[in-house]
Amino acid sequence: MGNSKYKFNFEPISNNLTDFEKKLLYLEQIRYIENPDNFYKETAYLKNVDGKLSYFYLFSKIKSNNFNPGSGYLTHGFGFYRGSFHGQMIRGLINYCNLDNCSVILDPFCGSGTTLIEANLLGFNSIGIDINPIACLNSKIKTDLLDCNIDNLLKDNKKYFNPAFFDDHIIDFTDFKELLKCDIKDLFYLFIFLRAISTEFRFSIDRKTSFKRIYHKLANVLKLYNNLKKRINLNLGKTNLFFSDCLTELKNLNTNSVDAIITSPPYVDLIDYIQEDLTPINYLFKKKEIELLKIKSIGNKFKNVLLTEKLYWNKINLFLKESVRILKPNKYFILIINNYKNMKNLYERLLYTNGFFIERVLKRDVVNIKKRNNTEFVYFLKSQI
Ligand SMILES: C[S@@+](CC[C@H](N)C(=O)[O-])C[C@H]1O[C@@H](n2cnc3c(N)ncnc32)[C@H](O)[C@@H]1O
Repeated sequence: MGNSKYKFNFEPISNNLTDFEKKLLYLEQIRYIENPDNFYKETAYLKNVDGKLSYFYLFSKIKSNNFNPGSGYLTHGFGFYRGSFHGQMIRGLINYCNLDNCSVILDPFCGSGTTLIEANLLGFNSIGIDINPIACLNSKIKTDLLDCNIDNLLKDNKKYFNPAFFDDHIIDFTDFKELLKCDIKDLFYLFIFLRAISTEFRFSIDRKTSFKRIYHKLANVLKLYNNLKKRINLNLGKTNLFFSDCLTELKNLNTNSVDAIITSPPYVDLIDYIQEDLTPINYLFKKKEIELLKIKSIGNKFKNVLLTEKLYWNKINLFLKESVRILKPNKYFILIINNYKNMKNLYERLLYTNGFFIERVLKRDVVNIKKRNNTEFVYFLKSQI
């Protein structure tokens, strides 16, 4: 940094940071001024700080896939989810929020749990809500595994390798909320099993073979992470997860109770998240229950296009109303959207009428899974009072 009082030595995590990442790096350096001793534990964009390797750099070396350099590390890479966040970006955004130790971070559309994982890795407690049960299972596994006894998880596990085990045992639960309270060991192997039946359906690889492959990949990451945890001092936060419609669940949160909201909402008539995960959902739910999940999903398509759009904006309006109520004064709501169907302007209008002001908007160019260029907008919002 230019100011000699705050001079410190650092090396960026990559020489190819995008303009967006350079901006976030610049913004997160404010953290260094306030907390120089811990900055190497928090930074998302530096490889080392004053001679110490950053935690992010150490995490980024532990991966189960190599798709994306700033994502897929630790448990982030344990399951593909459409529209998921970039872990490194969320880390940078949390740093920007300038939170103190006992802060709580909320993601009301938590999907596969990216916000929750990064919050926990940075020592913050988090709240996640999603209407898709497989998203909730993803989030549950990915956050709980960060802080569980890995040796215990990976030993005495022979029974789970028999696919009939799940037919006989786990399916006893009729209530998915109860299922999420199961022992993390049962849930971990159920998660692998559900991934294996999806692979069987999509690629015709039998579930037993897939199960073994997936298990070995994930176990390898967990073992490396376990070794790393013994070398560094990680102070992990915890996640409170709700399998629910966020419009219902947000009403249960107290006014001024949340220190940051970081989220990206579903879009109108773009991705049908329940349909995307239909194979594992079919395994766990009855047809009637699945229909109900679809109806409660925001952005769900109805035959009447106008009704689809009207319902979407009504629900987004309610979501913003609750968000401004539960967010503490002077704290950040970070909303990440793209400009699908020119909805950016309407979002801005609703943000304003619900009492938010836009402190800053950053543009982020992304290449999606189909290698198409896309632009996301990251809104830094605070309440007007
Ligand atoms: C863009 S995705 C979020 C992805 C997430 N940021 C991640 O990193 O994986 C939007 C999510 O909103 C969820 N969703 C849709 N309607 C919902 C509702 N009424 N309540 C809670 N979640 C809902 C979808 O299931 C989907 O997981």
